[in-house]
Amino acid sequence: MRQNLVAGNWKMNLTYQEGLALVEEIVRLNQANGAGPEVVLCPPFPFLTGVGQALPQGGKLHLGAQNCHQKESGAFTGEVSAKMLASVGCEYVILGHSERRQYFGEDDELLSQKLKAALAAGLKPIFCVGESLDTREADETFDFIGQQLAAGLFHLSNEEFAQVTVAYEPIWAIGTGRTATSAQAQEVHAFIREQIARAYDAQAALDTTILYGGSANAQNARELFSQPDVDGGLIGGASLKAADFTTIIQSF
Ligand code: PGA
Repeated sequence: MRQNLVAGNWKMNLTYQEGLALVEEIVRLNQANGAGPEVVLCPPFPFLTGVGQALPQGGKLHLGAQNCHQKESGAFTGEVSAKMLASVGCEYVILGHSERRQYFGEDDELLSQKLKAALAAGLKPIFCVGESLDTREADETFDFIGQQLAAGLFHLSNEEFAQVTVAYEPIWAIGTGRTATSAQAQEVHAFIREQIARAYDAQAALDTTILYGGSANAQNARELFSQPDVDGGLIGGASLKAADFTTIIQSF
């Protein structure tokens, strides 16, 4: 079901002790978040168990991971399966982040397999799409994102797709301080929703949560979240500061 959601992607930042201090502060500042959005914290793998234990049971704060392997188990040294993530309390997993696509060569085929693995383990994928600056300047943003959705995501059944949150993250806005304007975000979010309606049906499109990511922060979140098709954010840098992240959570 469509819901407001804010996810914090910690990326490869902080020590375990710093991570625990951050989550304790986030929990403290969000005790009264009864009517607010769902919140997902996505720390690095070694922090998951500890961060999960610091989250109040049954509340609006959830645990997520930043990646998973496509296979259920086996001889894949250094990798982490979706089932392992579920077993330490993860409910969500980010898949298809542009940093995974760019630095780790993750393509649509591999991401399709990862999506299947995550869903089989009962995880809710946060599936990222987004164009580069070159693509935007060539005026090919919609074609590119349509292609990412078709190749990476729309192979899922209706039932599987219902578990997915989509994140629109223009690559040129990630970690650059250059946010998409709320109009640019809205335009692409509306396009994504339209593609979902075509691939599935109008109800699926209405029910899908679509997040914006890319230099979203405490100053611009309210304007971004005010757009009709922007249901929340996938937050990198600003999720590492408890006060800023809380302001973003409270920006609906
Ligand atoms: P940023 O990262 O908020 O630091 O731009 C967003 C993301 O990559 O998920």
